[in-house]
Amino acid sequence: MPERASSVAQEVDHVFAFIFWLSLFFLALILVLTVLFVVRYRARPGRTEPEPSPSQHTRLELLWSGIPLLLVMVIFAISTVAWLRMIEPDTGKDPLRVQVTGRKWSWWFDHPGGKGAAELHLVAGRPTELTLASTDVIHSLYLPDFRLKQDAVPGRFTRMAFTPVLAGTFPVLCAEYCGTDHSRMTTSAVVHPDQASFDAWAREAAAEALSLLELGKKVTAAKGCLACHSVDGTPRVGPSFKGLWGREEKLADGTSVRVDENYLRESVLKPGAKVVAGFANVMPPVPLEEREMQAFIAYLQTLGNAP
Ligand code: CUA
Repeated sequence: MPERASSVAQEVDHVFAFIFWLSLFFLALILVLTVLFVVRYRARPGRTEPEPSPSQHTRLELLWSGIPLLLVMVIFAISTVAWLRMIEPDTGKDPLRVQVTGRKWSWWFDHPGGKGAAELHLVAGRPTELTLASTDVIHSLYLPDFRLKQDAVPGRFTRMAFTPVLAGTFPVLCAEYCGTDHSRMTTSAVVHPDQASFDAWAREAAAEALSLLELGKKVTAAKGCLACHSVDGTPRVGPSFKGLWGREEKLADGTSVRVDENYLRESVLKPGAKVVAGFANVMPPVPLEEREMQAFIAYLQTLGNAP
């Protein structure tokens, strides 16, 4: 078993150990009795008929119904107590709240103060509440070292509450089959030794977060736009990005359009809708996410306005 890295781990291990040893005890008991009875009551010369036995034994039947009932009720009770502790936040304390989003096929964690990251960042000793959501199908956030697992379900929020007790880096997995790359839907949980370390990370992460403009440059290069659109005014397969923003553009059908946010959005998502005069209708649609779209437009705005 991995180290116990959360406040609920010990209790989960106790429930697991109880069920494990109980099962092992009954497995051994049944195996031993089976072998014993097979040997003792086997057919042998002069003893071919079954042994006489009562057709009913009320006390025995009560016993073999009562004991299992009692045992499963004990399992029910101890596991319910452990489970309630996992979903009920520690009231009266100021928890670290993280919004967890599952999507095909990665996790995203929005930390307090708006810091988003692909890894989960926590503070050792600080009560933590994770709120889980999904943008597509059911995922399941699984932290083996924390002994925690919770489904992320589209259209509703689920919750986990616990306190990390060990500083370090721990694996995070998806435990619900969610499609092609389910097995790669892994990341890390980084537990900071104290709040100061977490705050330092949060500041650093905020500085590292790309500004819209930087993201725009990155997206424009990464999506292959620059193969057909120059940024220096030279027309290639498509019009140059330079000076495009705000321009009154003549279209192939004789009308004209002003290059603004909505025209750019339409031209990225549905390039054939309004083709610029003098260019062929050859561009494939480029499905950008909302923030990428905003970033792309922010970048175009810096490439010179129309005169
Ligand atoms: Cu997400 Cu499996």
